[in-house]
Amino acid sequence: CCQAWIHRRPGPPGRGCAGLSARLRPTPLFFQVGGKAVLITGCDKGFGRALATHLHARGFAVFAGCLLADQGGDGARELRHMASERMRVLQLDVRSEAEVEQALRAVSDSLPDPEQGLWGVVNNAGVASFGDVEFTSLEKYERVAAVNLWGAIRVTKAFLPLVRRARGRVVNVSSMLGRMASPSRSSYCISKFGLEAFTDCLRQEMYRWGVSVVAVEPSNYIAATGILTQEGIEAEAEQMWRTASEAARVDYGEAHFQRQLRQMKAFASSGLGDVAPVLDAVTEALLARWPYARYNPMEARWWLRLQAMTHLPTALADWLYIK
Ligand SMILES: NC(=O)c1ccc[n+]([C@@H]2O[C@H](COP(=O)([O-])OP(=O)(O)OC[C@H]3O[C@@H](n4cnc5c(N)ncnc54)[C@H](OP(=O)(O)O)[C@@H]3O)[C@@H](O)[C@H]2O)c1
Repeated sequence: CCQAWIHRRPGPPGRGCAGLSARLRPTPLFFQVGGKAVLITGCDKGFGRALATHLHARGFAVFAGCLLADQGGDGARELRHMASERMRVLQLDVRSEAEVEQALRAVSDSLPDPEQGLWGVVNNAGVASFGDVEFTSLEKYERVAAVNLWGAIRVTKAFLPLVRRARGRVVNVSSMLGRMASPSRSSYCISKFGLEAFTDCLRQEMYRWGVSVVAVEPSNYIAATGILTQEGIEAEAEQMWRTASEAARVDYGEAHFQRQLRQMKAFASSGLGDVAPVLDAVTEALLARWPYARYNPMEARWWLRLQAMTHLPTALADWLYIK
C-alpha cells in the first residue's frame, strides 16, 4: 500500500471543475491487459509454462518460446492444445541467433499493429548448475552463461525496438543468487549476476523511452520446477568428479565432495512447492504503472539473508552465513 500511495499522482490536466477533479483523480495503479502481447522464453516447463497459462488467463496474447517446440516437447504440446488465438507457441532456443530472428519475424507478423509494438518480453529460460570452482570446467561456465546471460541479452536486443514502441516492459527472471554469492554455485551465480548488471544498465538507458526493466529474483522453487532433479544432480556430480584434476580430487577429498553432493540434494528438495509468488511478481512487473526495479518472491528467511549479504560489511555477512 506504501507503493500505491507513493506512486499516486494526479490525472491528465483539464479545465474548470471537471479539470480539477480529473487532476485530483488518482491514475490507475495498474494497466489494463486489453490486447497486450508478451513473449516468454523457456515455456517447456517450470515457471515459463506456468507463466504462459497464467498470463493467457489474465487476457494477454502470449508468444510462448519453447526449446523443444519443433520436437513436440510436452510443454509446447500442452500450450498448443489450448487452441487459443491468444496462445502462439514458437520454437526458440535462446542460444540460437537464427531462432531468435525467426521468432522476431513470427511475432512482428502476428501483431495486429507492429507500429504499436510488443508490450513485454519475459526472459525466463534458464539452466541451473553447481560445483566448486575447482570442479567446474570452463566449458560449463560458458554453457550456463550461454542460456542464462547471453541468451537473455540476445532475445532482449532483438525485441527491444518492438518493446520501445509499446513503451512496454522487459522482465528478467534472475535469482536470489543473482545478488548474493554462494559457495559451489559460481557458474550459476556469475550468469545471474551478469543478468542483474544487464538489467540495471538497460533500466537506466530505458527511462527516456518509458520502458520499465525489471528483475524478478526468486529463491528456491526447485520442488515446483524441473530445474534440478536428484538424478540430474547425481549425474552432474559423477561427471565433475571424473573430470576433475588429480590435485583437486586429492586435496578436497571424496568425503568433502560427497558432503557437498548431499547438501545440494537437500537444497534441491527443500524449495517452495507453489510458484504463485513468482507468477504474481511477473504479472505485477508487467502491469503495474510504476513497477519496482526488483521483485523478491521468497521466504522471509531468504529475504533477510539477501539483505544481510547485500548490505552488511562483506566479512560480517560471510561470517554469519558462510563460514
Ligand atoms: N526453480 C528455481 O528454484 C529458480 C530459482 C531462481 C531462479 N530461477 C530461474 O527461473 C527461470 C526458470 O527456471 P525454472 O525453475 O522454471 O526451470 P525449468 O523448469 O528447468 O525451466 C527452464 C526452462 O528453460 C528452458 N530452456 C533451457 N535452455 C534453454 C534454451 N537454450 N533456450 C530456450 N529455453 C531453454 C527449459 O527447456 P527444457 O525443459 O526443454 O530443458 C525450460 O523450459 C530460470 O532462469 C532460472 O534460473 C529458478
